[in-house]
Amino acid sequence: MSKQKCLQSILINLSILIVSDAWIIDPGPQVIATKGGVWPKPQEQQTHQDYFVLSTEDFQFNIISDSCMILDEAKSRYSKLIFSEEKIAKKYGGNKDVDFKTNHFLGYLNSLDVSLKNLCAGDEFPEFNMDESYTLTIPTSTSKKAVLEANSIWGILRGLETFSQLIYNNDDDPNVYINATYIEDFPRFTHRGLLLDTSRHYLDINVIYQHLDAMAYNKMNVFHWHIVDDQSFPYQSSLFPELSEKGAYHPQFEIYTAANVAAIIEYARLRGIRVVPEFDAPGHTRSWGIAIPQLLTKCYKNGKFIDRFGPMDPTKEFVFSFLSEFYGEIKSVFPEKYVHLGGDEVPFDCWKENPEIEAFMKQLHINHDYKALQRYFMERMLNITRSQELVGIVWEEVFTTDAKMPQDTIVQVWRNNQQMLNKITSKGHRALFSSCWYLDHLSSGGDWQQFYDCDAHDFNGQKHNFELVIGGEACMWAESVNNENVLPRTWPRASATAEKLWSARKADNIDNVKRRLEEHSCRMNKRGIPAQPPNGPGYCLS
Ligand SMILES: *[C@@H]1O[C@H](CO)[C@@H](O)[C@H](O)[C@H]1NC(C)=O
Ligand SMILES: *[C@@H]1O[C@H](CO)[C@@H](O)[C@H](O)[C@H]1NC(C)=O
Repeated sequence: MSKQKCLQSILINLSILIVSDAWIIDPGPQVIATKGGVWPKPQEQQTHQDYFVLSTEDFQFNIISDSCMILDEAKSRYSKLIFSEEKIAKKYGGNKDVDFKTNHFLGYLNSLDVSLKNLCAGDEFPEFNMDESYTLTIPTSTSKKAVLEANSIWGILRGLETFSQLIYNNDDDPNVYINATYIEDFPRFTHRGLLLDTSRHYLDINVIYQHLDAMAYNKMNVFHWHIVDDQSFPYQSSLFPELSEKGAYHPQFEIYTAANVAAIIEYARLRGIRVVPEFDAPGHTRSWGIAIPQLLTKCYKNGKFIDRFGPMDPTKEFVFSFLSEFYGEIKSVFPEKYVHLGGDEVPFDCWKENPEIEAFMKQLHINHDYKALQRYFMERMLNITRSQELVGIVWEEVFTTDAKMPQDTIVQVWRNNQQMLNKITSKGHRALFSSCWYLDHLSSGGDWQQFYDCDAHDFNGQKHNFELVIGGEACMWAESVNNENVLPRTWPRASATAEKLWSARKADNIDNVKRRLEEHSCRMNKRGIPAQPPNGPGYCLS
């Protein structure tokens, strides 16, 4: 910044300060938390002044349809959450006697009747475009029965989460309350993801579980597992165990065994979360080459191999037959139709100096066109996944290098703004947006508002373009996060993305959003997620 510009911006900032009287500080929290505010905001909600008191002694979940394992597990999780809310109320509320016989008291809530319209098999997996809609009624009458209805088990899970969020305490009495409320809810976008990178730093299974819990508390439904990268290869392959034996930071303690992966998939399934793995290629693959150097391009200088390796080597058939076998394994390990193939940030310097690459490119008539070589690699990858009946998700570079992609390929935008979504969807592909939700980019204080100000539909397009934008993902790259700080850095910042993807476009005014997030961050703290404070000075009785 030039000196003049700098002075200008100081003056502008000063004038903002003067206009907003920002040096006058009132005591108490910066933002007053809501009581029973739901995050993300439901599509339609009517809340009344009439309220019930909820006491776990009198209250029960009634499953009035057939139950199944997913529902039984959810019932036990949410019973515990409600019980712990009651404990917190008692801890901070003392034994103050409250006289409920004021106008709005409806009595003690007896039950939440859970009604699932379709069959609950118990062994189903969440899938792309699953039905997550539900309706929830806390009655205005003294019937004392709340009702949750949904077509699918996934809608029931989202509704139970909402029910648990409607419950609040008043900090100064020992009771737990819930107001008469009617909610009709469904997500605006079907794909609401969180990317975690377990290569730059290894994340413990328990930390991943906590993220999955937090995702459920925010109604996110896709865990995009960027599992390996240049730095380490923690995925333990059953076909090629040498990859993690040599490529992980530690061959025993910093890996994900088949049992670990299965446990994570199951933990996610019970919360209605899909696990979509990413094995990024041809770039970001250095760690694969520790065990299997033949996969990678040898780097040369002045005609000599310099003992370094670049991206995967597209000249070798071995590379593709290996990846074909590898993806056969991935298909059997992950219960998903979708797999992320990466395809971003392919560096060309190593390809440029390698004589075999040069000869190969001449043969393909793509002399010196390294983008064409990248395109060739990704087209082969997409052919491999198609032959395995998997659908590919790719980073936007695969689209911008004009690769021929099957129509159902999903393109994830991370470099460009929303106009890129218009281009991708104009070619009939589905698209995901991430550019404005990079959680590893930090600014101070409540920087979640930047994430909140961004909308995946902010482009000039037609109805069919908007419909092909299936959602987005918050991305937490792990260069500077490990087990110690990844949770507070992700939450509640990813909550902003979660609401942008679930709720209606202009769901709430920003002052209310702040208040709800103040409560929601505290709610996550109460539930054991070390979310950082969202709005500056404040408190959380957890
Ligand atoms: C819930 O009910 C209480 C008690 O009547 C009332 O003070 C509060 O404003 C209600 N909450 C909402 C969000 O309407
Ligand atoms: C991918 O498969 C299609 C259809 O079989 C084929 O025409 C195309 O050449 C393949 N692409 C590459 C790069 O091998």
